[in-house]
Amino acid sequence: MPTIKFVKENKEIEVPPGANLRAEALKAGINVNHMVCGVSEGVDAFAANAGKMLNCRGFGLCGTCRVLITAGAENVNEMTTLEQLKFKYAPVPDPMPAMAFIGHEDTMRLACKTQVNGDVEVETMPEMNMFGENFFS
Ligand code: FES
Repeated sequence: MPTIKFVKENKEIEVPPGANLRAEALKAGINVNHMVCGVSEGVDAFAANAGKMLNCRGFGLCGTCRVLITAGAENVNEMTTLEQLKFKYAPVPDPMPAMAFIGHEDTMRLACKTQVNGDVEVETMPEMNMFGENFFS
């Protein structure tokens, strides 16, 4: 059975092969939906609570369930067309997913479109690198 380790939450769960990452996180009591992270503690908490309520429920449309696959990226499905559209080609009307993707091109996924086929480590609510070297490059 594949294992998902949620790094920030320090929680590890076993899932059936092919399990949906967002669904399994929710079952484990882990929120993966958020608006923006890395601004300040108060804003991040508000954004996480707002993301819990204001999301597309796993249809790949809102982009709030973005996570980083920090280990075991070879054990998940290929990035879907919906994810590519959200991250690479559709910064309007919501630019947040596309902005967050910068500098995380190899690791960022939408949890609702990620199938887990082997052991992975996941970072939920990744911070945006707004002032880092990759943002304006
Ligand atoms: S829940 Fe909306 S994109 Fe995943």
